[in-house]
Amino acid sequence: MEYSSRSIGSGNDGFVWRTSRQTAVKVFWREDTYQRELACYERLRDRHVAKVKHFKVPRLIDFDDELSVIEMELVTPPYLLDFGKAYVDYRPEYSQDALDCWDEQYRELWGEEQWKMVRKLMASLTMVGIYYQDPTPRNIHFGETEEE
Ligand SMILES: Nc1ncnc2c1ncn2[C@@H]1O[C@H](COP(=O)(O)OP(=O)(O)OP(=O)(O)O)[C@@H](O)[C@H]1O
Ligand SMILES: [Mg+2]
Repeated sequence: MEYSSRSIGSGNDGFVWRTSRQTAVKVFWREDTYQRELACYERLRDRHVAKVKHFKVPRLIDFDDELSVIEMELVTPPYLLDFGKAYVDYRPEYSQDALDCWDEQYRELWGEEQWKMVRKLMASLTMVGIYYQDPTPRNIHFGETEEE
């Protein structure tokens, strides 16, 4: 896999680089996060999901179990990505209090309208067995309509 030295992001899970063939490689710190994200991208590939509503999700291109690296399509907004905290075919259980608190915090962060859409995106993902856990503006980008 050839890549230039162009970093396009970093976060809790690792680093993301743009390659010389217009793809993104995500290098993970931890194997469990790598495995979770890979399982989601494999599920999306198997179900031919390229978009959730009108939000693009990166297509899986390649991966390396030894290096914990995923190569994926480079996407532009609107997009939804980062499945490092998502689960396939497993719904984590939370108390109603925790869910209410979570809902309140994200509603404040996104605003009513966008949070409604983000919830719809997560509901669409559950239709293919993906339980998305990290609905932040770093991971879900609305594009031009987004208020920065
Ligand atoms: N396929 C992609 N196409 C375009 N940009 C991407 C892609 N993957 C990642 N990025 C950019 O890199 C950033 C970090 O990627 P990602 O969220 O997957 O990493 P992370 O370590 O989980 O980050 P965080 O902990 O901040 O959520 C994203 O917010 C996005 O700006
Ligand atoms: Mg992220």
